[in-house]
Amino acid sequence: MANTKIKIENVSKKYDVENKALLFTKGNSAHDNFVGHETDYVLKDVNLEIKEGEFHIFLGASGCGKTTLLNIVAGFLNKTEGSVTLDDKEINGPGSERGVVFQNADSAIFPWLTVQKNVEYGLRMQGVKKDERKKIALDALDLVGLKGHEQKYPDELSGGMKQRVQIARSIAANPEVLIMDEPFGALDAQTRRTLQDELINIWKKTGKTILFVTHDIAEAVYLGENISIFSVAPDASIVDKITVPYKYPRDVNDQRVGEFIKYTTEQLENAIRASKAKHEGLQKADNEEEVVENEVAEANSVAV
Ligand SMILES: Nc1ncnc2c1ncn2[C@@H]1O[C@H](COP(=O)(O)OP(=O)(O)OP(=O)(O)O)[C@@H](O)[C@H]1O
Ligand SMILES: [Mg+2]
Repeated sequence: MANTKIKIENVSKKYDVENKALLFTKGNSAHDNFVGHETDYVLKDVNLEIKEGEFHIFLGASGCGKTTLLNIVAGFLNKTEGSVTLDDKEINGPGSERGVVFQNADSAIFPWLTVQKNVEYGLRMQGVKKDERKKIALDALDLVGLKGHEQKYPDELSGGMKQRVQIARSIAANPEVLIMDEPFGALDAQTRRTLQDELINIWKKTGKTILFVTHDIAEAVYLGENISIFSVAPDASIVDKITVPYKYPRDVNDQRVGEFIKYTTEQLENAIRASKAKHEGLQKADNEEEVVENEVAEANSVAV
């Protein structure tokens, strides 16, 4: 049985929101004080264990908090409550054991560096010697299918190629965990499938733990060993965990896999429906409470 790599315990998150309008209002005394407010809980009491070497998927509707939780695991965001550990050590910021691949490659890679220099960047920061750096970068570029494009600049690349550069850069830094936020979301179907297959190969070759966010159910079932299903914010959490029972490579045209995609879709729909019903129930209860309060207030004013 593999060791637990990442453990998420009772994690909740509220955001602090600046009031941008007030920030730009000159002479407003709010300048000197708190300019903003705290949101409701986006995430509430999230619990999850990811094993070493696991390919784990976060699946949920847009806005449910997948990126929020992923950024907490990456160490870019603080949690409001709870604990997140990596190898039993609390995560309090970014670390070289975790490599992050963002949805938008354009904002993640440097336009003034060649493909190879982009991939070498993190290694240079770590003080790895030039020859060693080059070797690691070329191997990583080979792994993602970019051999022959090393000296190009990002603006000479397609969207899929830029995304490969980002993935190569993460792999070159040799993290233990690859954290990927909808990395193939903006790509056409064919490029997407190619990169999905490459990612499975890289995972098999390197044995890394992968945490992959998507809202595409077929992609979740094609890639993941385990899928965490999110309910809807506010108070979103992981409400269901599904293990995909098929060996790789999976064939989405295989009837059984197709049935499993349907099953996963139903689970996701149930999760969304249940949380919406809960929100509406709470809202209704709030409204009813307000009506009761108003009635009480009215009755009191009559009484007075
Ligand atoms: N910086 C922020 N300040 C305030 N609220 C935020 C902030 N970032 C996200 N949120 C809110 O938190 C909720 C979850 O956002 P998040 O980006 O984590 O969703 P997501 O599941 O990744 O969605 P998508 O699939 O669209 O990427 C949303 O309601 C969003 O409005
Ligand atoms: Mg997101």
